Amino acid sequence: MLIRQKDDVRSSDITAEAVYLSRRDLIKAAGIGVTGAVISGSIGSRAIAAENGPVGKIMASVTKSPLSTAESPNTWTDITGYNNYYEFGTGKDDPSRFAVDFAPQPWRVKVSGECNKPGNYNYEDLVSLHALEERIYRLRCVEAWSMVIPWVGIPLASLVNRFEPNSNARYVSFKTLHAPSRMPGQRRRILDWPYVEGLTMAEAMHPLSIIAVGLYGRELPNQNGAPMRLVVPWKYGFKSIKAIAEISFTRKRPRSSWEQAAPSEYGFYANVNPQVDHPRWSQARERPIGAGLFAGKKPTLMFNGYAEQVASLYTGLDLRKNY
Ligand code: MTE
Repeated sequence: MLIRQKDDVRSSDITAEAVYLSRRDLIKAAGIGVTGAVISGSIGSRAIAAENGPVGKIMASVTKSPLSTAESPNTWTDITGYNNYYEFGTGKDDPSRFAVDFAPQPWRVKVSGECNKPGNYNYEDLVSLHALEERIYRLRCVEAWSMVIPWVGIPLASLVNRFEPNSNARYVSFKTLHAPSRMPGQRRRILDWPYVEGLTMAEAMHPLSIIAVGLYGRELPNQNGAPMRLVVPWKYGFKSIKAIAEISFTRKRPRSSWEQAAPSEYGFYANVNPQVDHPRWSQARERPIGAGLFAGKKPTLMFNGYAEQVASLYTGLDLRKNY
């Protein structure tokens, strides 16, 4: 996704050099690779150490959803070690390394705009009232790689209904926390921080849209967007904004971060569409992460395989123009 700029962040820039070097020494001393570091006690660090399987706090009472795909999920190591999260660096293993010390609790979410119940909500108050579901979804990145991820989450519609959007609300926008002292990638102008994303109200209310708070039955690791992130499985992964700190109901369509950075490359809708190429990546085929070096690519499915459920949202819309 990177749009090259003069002062692009480098892994070694993100953490203070001394810390970075001492981590490298640690890794060397432990005789393991760069992605296999064992550092401290937070979820992020435990996640990268987990070559053997899921780690982190187990979430209670998670029910299986009929909306899950029957495909086998990627491993914990794939899902927590190969990430896009520019607040912690632009390399795929930067988030698992540099989000280690990020504290996702306590967490508050500011709700504003066209709704009857604006306010500042505690994470616990937002999530604890809802039954947790496991949703195994395909994730398709615009960079043409894909995974299958067993999220734990709550329907976005249930959360939205709590805030009672009024009849002026046509869109809902989301913002990631803006805290350069805690998210070192925000000290560089890679994007116009904070990261912003948005959906139409119809998309937000669709049963497939969720707020994910966990993964593999455990609390969400930092690198995957702790404590809460959006997941909209029929859209390119960049719509699925991490570490949500603000939700706003608007009349006007919000301009998402990637749309602002490169409007000719990234649109508002960002529906997975094998017929509409990104200027730098053909979208016809995708590379499933973890399938092995010789597995080859597989054809991309319209709406990432969710056409039956979501195509009706876009009836009459020119998907080539509205990419
Ligand atoms: N959210 C924030 N705040 N910052 C980001 O850089 N990257 C997006 C999305 N959400 C991103 C983000 C992109 S490009 C993708 S593909 C997905 O997160 C990746 O999610 P994952 O790392 O959990 O697989």
